[in-house]
Amino acid sequence: MAEQGIDIAKALLKISWKLFFVKIHLIQKVIDSDYVQEAKLASACSLPYSLINYEALVDDNNVNIALKRIQKTKEFRAALYRGWMMKPEKYAILYHALKNYGVKLINSPAQYQHCHYLPESYPIIQEMTPKTLWIKNGDDFSQEAIMKMLKPFANHSVILKDYVKSQKHYWHEACFIPSTTDSVVVSKIVQRFLELQGGQPEGGLVFRQYVAFESIGSHSKSKMPLSLEYRIFFFNKKTVTVYPYWNEGEYPKEALPLKQFEKIAQRVDSHFFTMDVAKSSDKGWLIIELGDAQVAGLPDNANIEAFYRRLASLENEA
Ligand SMILES: Nc1ncnc2c1ncn2[C@@H]1O[C@H](COP(=O)(O)OP(=O)(O)O)[C@@H](O)[C@H]1O
Ligand SMILES: [Mg+2]
Repeated sequence: MAEQGIDIAKALLKISWKLFFVKIHLIQKVIDSDYVQEAKLASACSLPYSLINYEALVDDNNVNIALKRIQKTKEFRAALYRGWMMKPEKYAILYHALKNYGVKLINSPAQYQHCHYLPESYPIIQEMTPKTLWIKNGDDFSQEAIMKMLKPFANHSVILKDYVKSQKHYWHEACFIPSTTDSVVVSKIVQRFLELQGGQPEGGLVFRQYVAFESIGSHSKSKMPLSLEYRIFFFNKKTVTVYPYWNEGEYPKEALPLKQFEKIAQRVDSHFFTMDVAKSSDKGWLIIELGDAQVAGLPDNANIEAFYRRLASLENEA
């Protein structure tokens, strides 16, 4: 698979200015199993890819090794990355290093961070997302400071995450806080969350007012509540596709009011991003979060070929 993949990449590099990057495993030199299908089907849609070594970039700080397989060109080629998420600092290293090879990633480091870190995009989605407060790394994380910061939530329930991810599958242990006035429970949940995040949350601690989203069941393994939620991909502010967020649960036939989200999407400073949206009975449809689409997973049952075909056609329109 690896050698075949590399040959395809080399062949296609010569005939197209578009490139796709997927993670390659350091030792075995194979495409990460989660991206094998994407690489194959992107190629089938005339979107060729080249491989970068994710571990060399992220774990070993060795950008030269990471980009060993990229051909240098004088002309700039537009590209997007498909692979595991990385911290904005690493994305910036990748972005600038690729520019030296003549490759320009679709989102600048600032645009990547804009959708990757919730506090960055919060001001533009504020009117359509649950009330959110945060404490950044380096600030006072004492119990007293946390309880003071939670005061505006009165005794509401909140959910806890960091700037990027929650521990949603540990819902009752490390995510859902039934009441923000119960200091003992707040402390227990924050401690467990920090423990699961390896001691250091990414960016800081984020608390969001709990909203009773419409339920479509509970997760078969973790038992976390599953809300009526969708993931919308946007490319150059246009909808690429909409997916049910969960691979399980009972999705109703009712259509998603896409127009209202497409309107908000015009304000987002990113060329390729996702918007996760969910429905609550009392507040209607709300945005859960944005994400940089380069590092956003496609659901297990997604039609990958249709996704890349639509991307290719939007690219041609641009
Ligand atoms: N404010 C909220 N109220 C109720 N449920 C929420 C809220 N925010 C998120 N959720 C639920 O928790 C899940 C995880 O939250 P999310 O912010 O998407 O974290 P992650 O980035 O880890 O997926 C969401 O998919 C949604 O079902
Ligand atoms: Mg999410």
